[in-house]
Amino acid sequence: MAELDKPQREVEVPGDWTYASAPESRDIVEIADRYGHFVGGEWLEPTETYETIAPRDEEPLAAVGQATAADVGRAVAAARTAYADGWSSLPGSERAKYLFRIARILQERSREFAVLESLNGGKPIKESRDVDLPLAAAHFFYYAGWADKLEYAFPNRRPRPVGVAGQIIPWNFPLLMLAWKVAPALACGNTVVLKPAETTPLTALLFCDVLRQAELPDGVVNIITGDGRTGAALVESEDVDKIAFTGSTEVGKEIQRRLAGTGKKLTLELGGKAANIVFDDAALDQAVEGIVNGIYFNQGHVCCAGSRLFVQESIYEPLVAKLERRLTTLRVGDPLDKNTDVGAINSAAQLERIRELVASGEEEGAEIYQPPCVLPEKGYWFAPTVFTNVAQSYRIAQEEIFGPVLSVLTFRTPEEAIEKANNTPYGLSAGVWTEKGSRILWMAQRLRAGVVWANTFNRFDPSSPFGGYKESGFGREGGLHGLEPYLTFEDSETFGG
Ligand code: NAI
Ligand code: MG
Repeated sequence: MAELDKPQREVEVPGDWTYASAPESRDIVEIADRYGHFVGGEWLEPTETYETIAPRDEEPLAAVGQATAADVGRAVAAARTAYADGWSSLPGSERAKYLFRIARILQERSREFAVLESLNGGKPIKESRDVDLPLAAAHFFYYAGWADKLEYAFPNRRPRPVGVAGQIIPWNFPLLMLAWKVAPALACGNTVVLKPAETTPLTALLFCDVLRQAELPDGVVNIITGDGRTGAALVESEDVDKIAFTGSTEVGKEIQRRLAGTGKKLTLELGGKAANIVFDDAALDQAVEGIVNGIYFNQGHVCCAGSRLFVQESIYEPLVAKLERRLTTLRVGDPLDKNTDVGAINSAAQLERIRELVASGEEEGAEIYQPPCVLPEKGYWFAPTVFTNVAQSYRIAQEEIFGPVLSVLTFRTPEEAIEKANNTPYGLSAGVWTEKGSRILWMAQRLRAGVVWANTFNRFDPSSPFGGYKESGFGREGGLHGLEPYLTFEDSETFGG
């Protein structure tokens, strides 16, 4: 009662709700002026270097080696020696100990890694801190658990390691893609030569320090840096038994051509143009959050990004209105600021590609919406963008933009949604939003996509296999399926594997 008696005071409503900046300290991570290649547990002096920068302001961060074919040869030889000298015959329970150690060290040093990931790659610190790092550690924990259970994973098939794995990864999830590749390879008893993407080598180079801390035997993991030429040299290296690649469809096809007839194992995880499908019975506010997470997470630099939104016609107007309003609340800016939702575009080249495709969308007749936002002057930036009035034939509905750009299309019936969603050369992921469970199952059966999310999007778990259909590649990473590409089976004749 006392409270009710209080005189009613006018509450002053502030006109400006912008948050003060809250940057994570970059001093937490030490960056060397210059890095070599990590080969056989030693730092190999590079013959040639290039500068890696921070995309938020183009600040040079370090000189990094451009590995030559000779350097690649040394790394592969070191991996072969380590394979033959004991790693491949170590009991699984011993290999697991190293993987558990790596996982724990990643957890302990996660702030350092998160800051470096955001600095070198441009993604918001809240994503590197809350998604990339916990998931990278989880992958090592998960595959550590499999290392001594391979006989149970594949009963009566006598699984054996493949040998030396060459692994080429992209710049959108640098440390996480390293974890996806290195953890299952080591769990299965292989040794590794890994090449990070040219624009984001720093967390992989810091990971070498984790390997030392974990006392992993020399040469089990070798990390060489450089651009596509280094990647091509690794693919062509005769003594590599398996190649695992994540990146563009164009390079994936080139690698497949190179390896045809060599007998080397190959997995390709390539691009995507995922359909995110919203039915009229869906919880619209939840769906809007899922759409935003689907396409603006990591600036849309995500192979499984929900870049094509399909909305059932009856809810088109309210949904687009809610979505556009939600976009005005996204904060674009400094990746190291804890309040940032959308960070910097990874590179000048990627920014150029996004701009070119967005211009094509406008020219072809789509209607563009961008919320009012002030982009920093230096660095690489692109405002969150929604295109409406999009025809299926437009380039923005067909090609992977790999940026914060959403194309909205409509449908009337579930059959039409399926037909339109599958009308793409890709097949990596899809999303379905509806209250009706039977419709989710009906849709999931018909969508030609490796992963189908229901009433959520962009969810990852180490125990769940991930990979594509069609031009999105082949092979699976994650889960039990993710072990198979790193194993050979003695009885493959009997079991066809
Ligand atoms: P990219 O495919 O050229 O680069 C990915 C990795 O492959 C990097 O480590 C690169 O150094 C390496 N590489 C390049 N050429 C190679 C070759 N001939 N042999 C072996 N390795 C090679 O991708 P890029 O040029 O950075 O991006 C272009 C487009 O590709 C993006 O706009 C996006 O659409 C798509 N992309 C898809 C990714 C995914 O996660 N599926 C990741 C990166 C890019
Ligand atoms: Mg390229």
